[in-house]
Amino acid sequence: PQIREYNWTIQEIEANPDGVFRPMLTINGMFPGELIRCNEGDTIVVNVVNHGVNATAIHFHGIFQNGTNHMDGVPGVTQCPIASGGSFRYEFTVDGQAGTYFYHAHQAAQALDGLVGPFVVHARDEKENPANTYTSDRVVLVQDWYYDMSSGLLKEKLSPGYEGAPIPDGALINGANKVDCSLHPERRCDSSTASFASLDLAPNENHRLRIVNVGAFAWFQITVDEHHDLPVVEIDGTNIEPAPESSILIAPGQRYSVILSANQSAQDAYWFRARMMKHCFSENVMPQEGFQEVQAVVRYTSAATGVSKDDAALPTTSPNGNHAVECRDMNTVRTYTPTPPNPAPESAHHSYYLRVNIQIGAWRLERGVLNTSSYRPNLSSPTLHRVVSGLTAGNPSYRVAQGVNSLAFDPARELVISHSGPAEVVDVVLQNFDEGNHPFHLHGHKFFVLGAGHGYFPGYAALGLKPEGKGLLDPNNGTVVANPVRRDVGTVEGFGWSLVRFVADNPGVWLFHCHLAWHSESGMAMQFVSRLDVLGNWTLPAANRGLCEVAGEELRKGA
Ligand code: C2O
Ligand code: CU
Repeated sequence: PQIREYNWTIQEIEANPDGVFRPMLTINGMFPGELIRCNEGDTIVVNVVNHGVNATAIHFHGIFQNGTNHMDGVPGVTQCPIASGGSFRYEFTVDGQAGTYFYHAHQAAQALDGLVGPFVVHARDEKENPANTYTSDRVVLVQDWYYDMSSGLLKEKLSPGYEGAPIPDGALINGANKVDCSLHPERRCDSSTASFASLDLAPNENHRLRIVNVGAFAWFQITVDEHHDLPVVEIDGTNIEPAPESSILIAPGQRYSVILSANQSAQDAYWFRARMMKHCFSENVMPQEGFQEVQAVVRYTSAATGVSKDDAALPTTSPNGNHAVECRDMNTVRTYTPTPPNPAPESAHHSYYLRVNIQIGAWRLERGVLNTSSYRPNLSSPTLHRVVSGLTAGNPSYRVAQGVNSLAFDPARELVISHSGPAEVVDVVLQNFDEGNHPFHLHGHKFFVLGAGHGYFPGYAALGLKPEGKGLLDPNNGTVVANPVRRDVGTVEGFGWSLVRFVADNPGVWLFHCHLAWHSESGMAMQFVSRLDVLGNWTLPAANRGLCEVAGEELRKGA
């Protein structure tokens, strides 16, 4: 195992990734941020220096942080934010997981200002795996894109009477696109230096594309012209038996690896298309008219041709036929097979029923809610600190730790799932009373997706499960699947339900939230607190506690 160290300075710059200028937050002036790439077992060190005017924090999305919950990077949950002018050293070991991940700011909606980048973990046995016959391995980040700073958009969104969410202005692939400036007369724009992202692939070889949706709000449908075969081999870090697909549907926070065979002969260049599915977030947009597309160029090129991107012609290919336009996860409509098999525990110790909704409350303020609770982080007193100090003060019960909290205890806000002893198995039924689709992300774990559907959760018995949740179901027809996909972002569709199961084996406080930035920031989030037996013996590192010694006003300057 190696130690891999990164030095990151967070800076505000003005840039025009697609032609339109806007203020951005960047890591070392780069966008997207640099690739973190490691082997399973390696230790990652990231020294963050915050030169931005607002406080920030960095989260490593999907990384378990087993034993290092305080490095999870969630303001108000695991740390105080890093104040402007401050710094913090993230240090953690990546183990027991491999595949495609990413990192992003977890303070307010800052991720969409540019604080995002890819994170790839190579498995110990990756070389021996016969499925890995690809000759190149690359990351394709897709995202929606706004032309205004998230702080302003968020303020607007959280204002009384706003009711809705900011609609993206555009979209990017690997931080790039090229817009027609005449369509943006009200913005400062120069697209002469902008270009489409390009994926240069050796012909007649297989290539692994790790597709990550790092955006704030939009689902994307991915296709490659003339390449109708895009077998999926990985979902959120879980390897699956290659599954034939011709298009990929990906929600914010999710990852899919596909194998692209550069085996076409018609041309040397093809459009890679990412269609932003606007009808998934706006009921006023019909599916047929709801696509806004961003493209990248797939170019067959061997080093020998020496063709540079700039003088190469753009593709003239046209899109593959029609594709599904549902706003649901691919694995709620099809069954994929994890390999090696990783069966879910047969039954759960707890099953929580969470009513997901967006409500317009007093002063016509729109909030995301789980049951009766809308989450707000306490930026100057993270839950982890309160739990650890409550426990180590000799108070055996977490209720006492709660006493330090100024907020009343609400089971939807903070759930204690394991008081002591071995890891417990937890089911969460998400019942969506909202018309929108919500991709829920659990920190520190992957969950088994046991089922999902439209309408009301039919109950364990109706699904062929014993009341205590024995047996697993096929999302299509309610029959038993022994080997469900395990992932860290799963969507509950509009007016639908989903049932996920996870093993609460990771000591700490873990956020569970809709990964749509506008929803999590308006309160569609809660925390799981697990392994109090372990947390009771913890000492929080001084550096983590030190972040909280900065004055509250400074810390709150996050949005
Ligand atoms: Cu990708 Cu709570 O985050
Ligand atoms: Cu949501």
